[in-house]
Amino acid sequence: MMSMRKNIVAGNWKMNCDISQTYLLLDALKEQQISDDVSVIVAPPFTSLQSANQALLDTDILVAAQNMHQEATGAYTGEVSAAMLKSVGVDTVILGHSERRAIFLETNALLASKVNIALDNEMTVIFCFGEELKDRKAGTHFNVVKQQLQEGIFHIEKENWNNVILAYEPVWAIGTGETASPQQAQEMHGFVRNTLAEVFDTDVSEGVSIVYGGSVKPGNAKEIFSKEDVDGGLIGGAALNAADFMAIVNAFE
Ligand code: PGA
Repeated sequence: MMSMRKNIVAGNWKMNCDISQTYLLLDALKEQQISDDVSVIVAPPFTSLQSANQALLDTDILVAAQNMHQEATGAYTGEVSAAMLKSVGVDTVILGHSERRAIFLETNALLASKVNIALDNEMTVIFCFGEELKDRKAGTHFNVVKQQLQEGIFHIEKENWNNVILAYEPVWAIGTGETASPQQAQEMHGFVRNTLAEVFDTDVSEGVSIVYGGSVKPGNAKEIFSKEDVDGGLIGGAALNAADFMAIVNAFE
């Protein structure tokens, strides 16, 4: 049985928040009301994961990592494995964020191996993809996205798709204040869902949650989330402010 798709809002804290700032932000989040129809995830840096998980034990908010390594263990100085994340209670990981792709040169092939080890460890993967501005200007954005999915996640076995969340993040909209219009987001989300229906079947395409990321704010979340194939958001900047993040969490109609 495929899981039914859910509304999800995830906060990607990036390289922000030391441990005291982590506690402050989480305390502020815990004071707010969350409606029942949305799953909330926060992704603090590695150094805050264990504490965040402990602090959120009595809530429904889940903790995710922002990255992890593709090997199980070994001589990989500076890296963190799936088992290490699980050992501090973290079962969810963001993979393929555009900053990992652009700054740390992560390729689709590398991401495919990260996806595999995450799923082998029964983790949930938030898989990010999205075109750059030059691709959109050239009109190749659908091809670029299809290739990222083809090389990154089309190999996933059908029974593992309930552990996958997709995040469409057009690179030109991340941290720029420029959002994709709700229509542009819907158009790409619809394309991804149709592609998944062709490659797999409608159990997969209708079951998977596809969230949008890129300058989502309290003022634009409602309209973006109202689109048929948009199941929520991956939030960067606005996730660092509890009131803004919670306004986005509660932006579903
Ligand atoms: P932003 O970041 O909301 O600050 O644009 C989104 C992301 O990078 O996930």
